Amino acid sequence: MKKYRTIYLLITLMFTLGFNSCEKEDAEIEFDTIPVANEALDIRPTEFRISWQPIFRSSGYQLDVSLDETFSTFVSGYNSKSINGFQEIITDLSNNTRYFYRVRGLLNGVPTENSNVVSVVTRFIPDEVITLKSSASNFFVGVAVNPDRIADSQYMEVYEREFNSVTAENAMKMANIITGIDAMMNISYDWSKADAIVDYAEEKGMNIHGHALIWHESVPNALTNFTGTDAQFEAIVEDYITTTVTRYKDKVDSWDVVNEAIIDNSTSLRASIFRQKMGENYLEKCFQFARNADPNVKLFYNDYNMVTDPLKRSGALREIDKLIASNLLDGVGYQMHINIENPSEAEMQTATNELVSRNVLIHYSELDVRTNLNGQSTTFTEQRSFAQSDKVREVTRVYNSIPDANKYALTLWGLKDDDSWITPRFNVLDWPLLFDNEFGKKEAYSGFIEGLQ
Ligand code: G3I
Repeated sequence: MKKYRTIYLLITLMFTLGFNSCEKEDAEIEFDTIPVANEALDIRPTEFRISWQPIFRSSGYQLDVSLDETFSTFVSGYNSKSINGFQEIITDLSNNTRYFYRVRGLLNGVPTENSNVVSVVTRFIPDEVITLKSSASNFFVGVAVNPDRIADSQYMEVYEREFNSVTAENAMKMANIITGIDAMMNISYDWSKADAIVDYAEEKGMNIHGHALIWHESVPNALTNFTGTDAQFEAIVEDYITTTVTRYKDKVDSWDVVNEAIIDNSTSLRASIFRQKMGENYLEKCFQFARNADPNVKLFYNDYNMVTDPLKRSGALREIDKLIASNLLDGVGYQMHINIENPSEAEMQTATNELVSRNVLIHYSELDVRTNLNGQSTTFTEQRSFAQSDKVREVTRVYNSIPDANKYALTLWGLKDDDSWITPRFNVLDWPLLFDNEFGKKEAYSGFIEGLQ
């Protein structure tokens, strides 16, 4: 008896569970009666791919693509076009043009209501007369150069066509111009590379941004090994800043006086040799030396990860505010070594607004956009090329939102992909710049101009 009762209970339980779960499934099934159009994908200058979520028992779909939101100017062939699947590639479109699309299902041959309307803008192709510099109003478009490249006719042609400002990638750094310090504390210099760049830019009428007077990563051995007192160390730094700024007075338009003074993920000053020997207020001292040497040259503080690292940014802003209060600072450089995923446009805008509210000149000073984030790519795919273009467009769009009075320059950290510091430094292939290795314009070149339209 007990055995039958157990079986009876088990069967009842199974039925109850099964019945309940069927009931639940029935309740959850709700069929859409209108298709939902998805955002466009694979957007190109003359085409894009659209898709939609299918509806139950539909025998097909009708697609409209139009140049206006009220669907009065249809793209040829796309007025109630019959489609059997759930997607379509629309081709032969115009570049940089906004289109709208919607779709209807067919139930027993009768069209449903229209789906939502989705809009999409085809990618931009700049015409041949537009260049990087001509697309920028009220600010300079710069490029990092070195002495070999400014003597190479292929580079020169692109530099002069596209840019109106230069920064020496390495030639004006302290370790590259100071060759020694003797026992009498006389400094010896090799100006040849820095002079070559300044002479070139002067001859071509380009703006010159000096980079960088004080940087903890560019300290000549003679200074690292200096055994004199802290006061003597400071006197050497003053002598060097005075000599360098004076040499290029009326030629160099602006200087990064101090570069990268703040520790990552922190608000603290780095314990650099300058901080150790000259004290907590070494920035003010260095800016004052530069100001004394040339009251007209624009003085900048420059740093990296200023968008993505809010702690670091707040540390930098603390120093920047002190320099502003002492009337020693004209501008700030956000380096912008970024990648196709980060930072977001909103983050760039927030970080940039911090400078606008301080009414300083703003330099996006070392732009490059990494694409090979996991280091596994061996080719520059079309997908990454478009993603890079999108990120560059965001950068220039945010830069363009800056009031004219606060714009200074937007500088690319090199011309061609194979010039970039990224591959040698991180030992990883990448394609971070606006021109390919054959001096060809990449998608990112179009993105740069598009953000400024
Ligand atoms: O010129 C020598 C060459 O003779 C030698 O064979 C070769 C072997 O390593 O080194 C060459 O020098 C290299 C130099 O770049 C020129 O290519 C240095 O080792 C290398 O350290 C140096 O890297 C530069 C780096 O700063 C350090 O100064 C990068 O080109 C330059 O892009 C990079 O720029 C910095 C900015 O100044 C500040 N912000 C970050 C940015 C990227 O690190």
